Amino acid sequence: MRVISVTGQKGGVGKSTTAMNLAATLSRANRVLVVDVDPQRTSTSWAERAGDDLPFDFASNTDPDVIAQIRRLDHDIVVVDTPGNLQAAPVLNAVLAQSDFAILPITPAFVDIDPVHETVRDYVRPNNVPYRLLLNRVNRARGDRRLDAWKELLDNGEFFAGETGLPRFTNHIRMSALVEDMPLEGRVVTQYNDTRASQAAIQDYTMVSLELTSIWANGGDSLSERKV
Ligand SMILES: Nc1ncnc2c1ncn2[C@@H]1O[C@H](COP(=O)(O)OP(=O)(O)OP(=O)(O)O)[C@@H](O)[C@H]1O
Ligand SMILES: [Mg+2]
Repeated sequence: MRVISVTGQKGGVGKSTTAMNLAATLSRANRVLVVDVDPQRTSTSWAERAGDDLPFDFASNTDPDVIAQIRRLDHDIVVVDTPGNLQAAPVLNAVLAQSDFAILPITPAFVDIDPVHETVRDYVRPNNVPYRLLLNRVNRARGDRRLDAWKELLDNGEFFAGETGLPRFTNHIRMSALVEDMPLEGRVVTQYNDTRASQAAIQDYTMVSLELTSIWANGGDSLSERKV
């Protein structure tokens, strides 16, 4: 079993959206459970709207003692959706202590840079969890050059004090009105078909889940930055 936490102390970067849709694409080849440990319950209400149609199991729990038992579960992959504020530090640390990998979504916005760096420094590294940043809500209408500049910025660490860059997924998730409406519709990405928008979204999340699988297959833990 692998435990993946989707985390970051900045609100609204796409943690819940990433957790639910990655879980959906991963569930095509794995028995997947999503656990919502956020008292805000965003993914829980999304899952409630989806009902029995969800392609993975779902649970919500904010009790650090229960979270500490997460590895006893009988799933191939557990994806944990975590809170986007620091009042939840005990929960976040309980989750990271059980995690094999952390995904940190970041939108291409200046205000997202410091929080993601702080989350890596204060939570992910102290718990010794391999991780990748994931560019989310990428607006392709703004052109390849802007995307390339953002990738470069994460890679060279220009804005991360004392860093040479933070590891990121090569693939990214595009901004999508369809993705934005999924919680309201009570569906996850694999439950759509045959429109251009849905094909793009399925492709994005599938590429990231394949990249994740290949990081593991290639002994990804050693590729990722570890606690210094
Ligand atoms: N790729 C995307 N394209 C368009 N909208 C997106 C995308 N990813 C997320 N969103 C939207 O951005 C908003 C914030 O996303 P989400 O709730 O997943 O963030 P979060 O990090 O979990 O927030 P919180 O910190 O409050 O838990 C939501 O309205 C969601 O639908
Ligand atoms: Mg959320």
